[in-house]
Amino acid sequence: MAEQAYQDAAVPADGDRDILRVEHISKRYGAVTALVDVTMHLERGEVLGLIGDNGAGKSTLLKILCGFQPPTSGRIILEGQEVTIKSVDHARSLGIDAVYQDLALVNQLTVYHNMFLNREPVRWPLLNNRAMRKLAKEHLDDMGIKTLKSVDVEVASLSGGQRQAIAVARSVYSDAKILLLDEPLAAMGVKEGAIILDLVTRLKTQGNVSIIIIAHNYGQVLEVCDRVNLLQGGRITLDKRSAETSAQELTDLVVAEYRKALEERHRAAAS
Ligand SMILES: Nc1ncnc2c1ncn2[C@@H]1O[C@H](COP(=O)(O)OP(=O)(O)OP(=O)(O)O)[C@@H](O)[C@H]1O
Ligand SMILES: [Mg+2]
Repeated sequence: MAEQAYQDAAVPADGDRDILRVEHISKRYGAVTALVDVTMHLERGEVLGLIGDNGAGKSTLLKILCGFQPPTSGRIILEGQEVTIKSVDHARSLGIDAVYQDLALVNQLTVYHNMFLNREPVRWPLLNNRAMRKLAKEHLDDMGIKTLKSVDVEVASLSGGQRQAIAVARSVYSDAKILLLDEPLAAMGVKEGAIILDLVTRLKTQGNVSIIIIAHNYGQVLEVCDRVNLLQGGRITLDKRSAETSAQELTDLVVAEYRKALEERHRAAAS
């Protein structure tokens, strides 16, 4: 049934409408197969939710798209052109920026230094500390992140949620064309989570960025995303517009997968 839903929503290749396509991507880590023949597209200005159980392959896919690791096989097509993404820096130069699940902030540096770390390589050496501090503060204020005492504190002294907010802010103000957010809400309180969701909605209305967001709360995903893809065991099993599905349907699919695996294990144990 899940596969049927995916096939129903399958769409033809469209270089103009899609900013990004991945075709037949597989990823193996030694004996572990994390992704199997994944074909996915992201439309210009779209917010796509990528959901699925723990270990389904969500982070693996995002890490391929942001240049952290290559796929074992398959193609990536960016704005109609096939690309080989060589590194995270290369991805950034192509306009693809990511916020990782396992965050990449430097603990020993201040909040404002982290905001500009490895960014704007031409401008940043010329920006003095005063300018960076002022800009960092403006960006965080603009996002509505008010729980930070100061942008001068070291990141090591912050909570997980505050760190995540800074990582998201850093990407959002990087002028990326494609933003990849791996569980940006995971360490957030209710209010901070709402701030990030509002920010994504605001970016969507501005229309110059396309976003893939991984999250576990299906209600939140459906609220903020135009479309959702479900990954199960390394395969995409559902591709639907948010308006055409529900948190209940998504939950049912994941629970059904879990039950099936459990039954198979029982059967194997009995035989
Ligand atoms: N570097 C790695 N080496 C070996 N196996 C890996 C590596 N990274 C991921 N895997 C495996 O690949 C599969 C997919 O992992 P991935 O991190 O993509 O899952 P996920 O969908 O992001 O899960 P979660 O919701 O828990 O974050 C898992 O079986 C995982 O153990
Ligand atoms: Mg993950």
